[in-house]
Amino acid sequence: MVKRVLITGASSGLGKAIAEQLRDMGEELVLVSRHIDTVSDEFPNGILISADITKDFDEIADKAGDIDVLINNAGVLYAGPFESMTDEQINNIFETNIIGHMKLTKRVYEKMKKKRGGHIINVISSLGLSGMEERVLYCATKFAMRGFSEALEREARPYNIVVTAVYPSGIKTNIFKKAGLPERDKYMDPKDVAKLIVDLIYAPKGTRPTMLVIRRTKY
Ligand SMILES: NC(=O)c1ccc[n+]([C@@H]2O[C@H](COP(=O)([O-])OP(=O)(O)OC[C@H]3O[C@@H](n4cnc5c(N)ncnc54)[C@H](OP(=O)(O)O)[C@@H]3O)[C@@H](O)[C@H]2O)c1
Repeated sequence: MVKRVLITGASSGLGKAIAEQLRDMGEELVLVSRHIDTVSDEFPNGILISADITKDFDEIADKAGDIDVLINNAGVLYAGPFESMTDEQINNIFETNIIGHMKLTKRVYEKMKKKRGGHIINVISSLGLSGMEERVLYCATKFAMRGFSEALEREARPYNIVVTAVYPSGIKTNIFKKAGLPERDKYMDPKDVAKLIVDLIYAPKGTRPTMLVIRRTKY
């Protein structure tokens, strides 16, 4: 059965890798990011919404329509000593990584609840499970996302809505470069992590994957 999947942060990295695999499987895609036009040639059949998760959640929810699977994936990383972080960075990372996604999820969840079914996948991070120096803001948002996922998972159960929290460790994407950090060869390939996430959507009937921790093999 064809599913309609909304992915935030689909213009690059992990979100794009998930979108490519679902496209090749023939699923209906609704792809969101601020620069989603940069990948329009690769997703000719998708609904591409150029939007900012921090403020455009109403527009995204309206344009997306009836969603079967919501993948909350967009994210930013700021790295450095805590005292060097600006107030603007504190606001922006919370608005992007958690608040925007909660507001979008609320709108999509309402519709899922009415139709008694759906799947919400929250891409968190291994840094939502343990803290790390010079990642204070990022860890704080990812811990918040963990709490959101675990609590909503329980609330959503009676309505046949699955909520899965995904905790990957390092993946080779541009998130590090954008944060002024070096790329690491030992990090995972986004395609491999995407495959594990895509598999969650097709979990056997009668099962409810609530948590996926993805560690890398190379250290
Ligand atoms: N890379 C890792 O090692 C790693 C590990 C664990 C978890 N994660 C998580 O995986 C997710 C994807 O990250 P990635 O590694 O693939 O990084 P990435 O390549 O930098 O992708 C981030 C995506 O988020 C989008 N985005 C950022 N701010 C946005 C906003 N305000 N509104 C809408 N879209 C926005 C970006 O698109 P635009 O710039 O076009 O808006 C981009 O598509 C993030 O939640 C990240 O925390 C990453």
